[in-house]
Amino acid sequence: MCGIVGYIGEKNAVPILLEGLRKLEYRGYDSAGIAFLMGGNLGVRRSAGKLKNLESSIEAEISSGVGIGHTRWATHGRPCEANAHPHRCGRVAVVHNGIIENYAELKAELSKRGHRFSSETDTEVIAHLIDERLSNGLDLESAVRQSLGDLKGAYAISVVAEGRPDVLVAARAGCPLVIGLGAGEFFVASDLPPILGYTKETIFLDDYEMAILCREGVKVTDLYGKSREKEVCRVQWSPAMAEKGGYKHFMLKEIYEQPQSIRDTSLCRISPSGGVVFEDFSVPESVLRGARKAALIACGTSWHSCLIAKLWLEELARLPVEVDIASEFRYRNPIVGPDTLFVAVTQSGETADTLAAMREAKKLGAKAVTICNVVGSTAAREADGVIYTHAGPEIGVASTKAFTAQLTALFLLAVRIGTLRGIVDNEMAAFLLGELSAMPGKVEQTLSIMDEEMGRLARIFYKARDFLYLGRGYNYPVALEGALKLKEISYIHAEGYAAGEMKHGPIALIDEKMPVVVLAPSDDVFEKVASNIEEVRSRGGQVIAFTTDTDRRLEGKADYLYRVPDTVPCLTPILMAVPLQLLAYRIALLRGSDVDQPRNLAKSVTVE
Ligand code: AGP
Repeated sequence: MCGIVGYIGEKNAVPILLEGLRKLEYRGYDSAGIAFLMGGNLGVRRSAGKLKNLESSIEAEISSGVGIGHTRWATHGRPCEANAHPHRCGRVAVVHNGIIENYAELKAELSKRGHRFSSETDTEVIAHLIDERLSNGLDLESAVRQSLGDLKGAYAISVVAEGRPDVLVAARAGCPLVIGLGAGEFFVASDLPPILGYTKETIFLDDYEMAILCREGVKVTDLYGKSREKEVCRVQWSPAMAEKGGYKHFMLKEIYEQPQSIRDTSLCRISPSGGVVFEDFSVPESVLRGARKAALIACGTSWHSCLIAKLWLEELARLPVEVDIASEFRYRNPIVGPDTLFVAVTQSGETADTLAAMREAKKLGAKAVTICNVVGSTAAREADGVIYTHAGPEIGVASTKAFTAQLTALFLLAVRIGTLRGIVDNEMAAFLLGELSAMPGKVEQTLSIMDEEMGRLARIFYKARDFLYLGRGYNYPVALEGALKLKEISYIHAEGYAAGEMKHGPIALIDEKMPVVVLAPSDDVFEKVASNIEEVRSRGGQVIAFTTDTDRRLEGKADYLYRVPDTVPCLTPILMAVPLQLLAYRIALLRGSDVDQPRNLAKSVTVE
């Protein structure tokens, strides 16, 4: 997820663009750049790293009435100046948010026509497509419109071109873009924060719409050039509210971004033939096919996703899997070698223990893959192969969308390996990937039901001193995750346990003051979990149970009963995680915790 801005008007665009990028840094901050038209010439300034690096690279005398800017969260191509936006070709500069799925074939076709590329990004092909059409005599609007017709995937773009200082073109498909209507000046941005300081009159573009901004006004058309009447919305948000998309906290915003992050992590990897394809994945298939075992390593929430992935890999690929907490792995004498597929799961790509474990495994000869959310992070650079989660920046310390995006990526990996090892046939792959493709919609459904329900539940239990979370099979790690979410943002002591372990100790904890969250989807261990619920209730414990839509067997058997949409049992963790995230958030809110930056915690633990 990146941030784009644009301005056309009588003021100097440069400070407006920089201020706008600063307000979008939460969308991505690994590199930034601007393009502007000055004295009829196109200028571009870009830099890797934080926005301040860009600011110091822009000469004070630069002044222009039209320009575009970009702050990047890399999806293709590591963070560096060459990959920073705007991307330029000839007279054209483009900034882009999204993923162009067919960029490789477009790049190959353009290369055959003599185009030379200077970056690893998907975005650069857009600049070349537009410039080529300008050279063929099209005007800027038509050149952009026709080029967009070549693209497959998601985009929000802004374009300026030498020789056209009086126009800025913007368009969107699948990524947000909002137009600001000022007095003789017009703005475009990925989100409201850069605009609200200048105007509250806005137009929200819809998919496959283009906006042509000039000093006299804004024209909106479809991709065939047909004009579109657009409603002008007067926005009531304050700039601060807008940065979080109107949500009170980044954590809540990120919980709600999960349908999109699951979609972005999965759709571009499910091929039309029903298989799994990882773009730019440099671990040979022979390693995936021939590994004698897999070692999954991570910390915290990422470790929980490894525990679930173990079950998927053993079931779908019949691959023996060991899961270790990174800080434990690195200090024991692990049995790892060239026949081990080592997978480090890390949102930040900078967790010290996870990096150390990966280095240890590589030293022992294993091939290392990382499932990571930050392009160009240390883990991504040191691994032999990377599978990115496309969750966008996760600002809240408590991991939410990164967790379900990790599960999405790991599930795809399990299906891929299962297919390569001849365990998963085409029919099974199509079924499983079909269920995964339905996940974004089911998560949306879950969010729409559960937020209010969890708010009500939070008001009942937010003063509890302890919580117990129980689950079995795929949902035992989700019980661990639910407990971690609660403890790290509400500071309530919470423990996740395998439900079958109750008799081996935890049942001694049960009394009327102990709320017990039980994950009981309709699967082959449901009856066992139902009897655990009985054990808890017969000792006075209060049971908060989560089951799946059509299962009625827990009616009257739990004190509080909630339902998530039905899905194949192995994918219930993605849906079960959502209400637990919301419950933790709502309880923490009632307890007055700093939800986005809880005490004692950092977003990325870069030290031991
Ligand atoms: C989860 O909510 C925590 N923020 C923490 O456990 C986190 O998952 C852990 O530190 C691992 O971080 P990583 O995924 O960036 O490696």
